[in-house]
Amino acid sequence: MKYIVFILFQLILFSLSEVVVKPIIQCTLQDCEGDDFCYQGYCTPCEIPRNLWFQRKPEWGTKVGEAIQVPAYSNFGDANVLDTNKDEYLKDSKINFGEEIYVGQNYQCVQFARRFWIQNYNTTFGSVNYAEQIFNLQEAYNFDTKKTLQMKKFQNGDINTPKFGDLLIWQKDEGEFPYGHVAVVIAVEIESNYPHVLIAEQNYDQSWDARSFSRALKLVKGKNKEIIISNNRQIFPTKEDWKCRDTEITSQGVILGWVRLNIQ
Ligand SMILES: *[C@@H]1O[C@H](CO)[C@@H](O)[C@H](O)[C@H]1NC(C)=O
Repeated sequence: MKYIVFILFQLILFSLSEVVVKPIIQCTLQDCEGDDFCYQGYCTPCEIPRNLWFQRKPEWGTKVGEAIQVPAYSNFGDANVLDTNKDEYLKDSKINFGEEIYVGQNYQCVQFARRFWIQNYNTTFGSVNYAEQIFNLQEAYNFDTKKTLQMKKFQNGDINTPKFGDLLIWQKDEGEFPYGHVAVVIAVEIESNYPHVLIAEQNYDQSWDARSFSRALKLVKGKNKEIIISNNRQIFPTKEDWKCRDTEITSQGVILGWVRLNIQ
């Protein structure tokens, strides 16, 4: 009997030591290269979390998040062609402002950007066929004061830090961004271990990473204080799997820069 208890005791000790010794930390947060992410100390393929993420496809028109009281909706399944049936005009704009204010086509990325400027600044910008063209617009229009306002442009790599309300503009290319893309800057965090820009947008993943922002993009401050933003999510502790929401293809998306409404 004594002998058996001793063996049991040994077994428990042995298995405990197994547990204690085994987790040699092989990665920390940003270590894993390529298509791996750091999961509980080990570089692990992104495949499983990515497949789970891709299954999240809210039906077209479902609210997917809200930034500063501006809701965003899923554009899942949309053919992304011009369709006047999906045109949206600001409610009661004729009564309130004496003119009809065009918001955009539901639920394109441009429609969210315009709606954000309308709700926050009573300001709209001109018609564009695709998002990249916003970077070429010179002025916006405040329909409340009837004044035109300058749209200032900053190339990605500028030393002027993006600010709340700026529009981030993606370059149009043949692959994943045939129309370019636009997102609104909600917050910027430079002096952090995980520098990033919080953005809000429509018609990107059709699902937001959090209730109040769609993605936290990686920001790098260069030697000459230049700010470079890439189309990759920043990797945070406890959110390691966010890395897997980007793919090799989407990572090639190029951000041209940011557009600021000159409010003065
Ligand atoms: C927008 O215009 C309305 C109507 O004039 C006004 O009540 C509101 O304060 C304005 N909002 C902003 C953000 O300027």
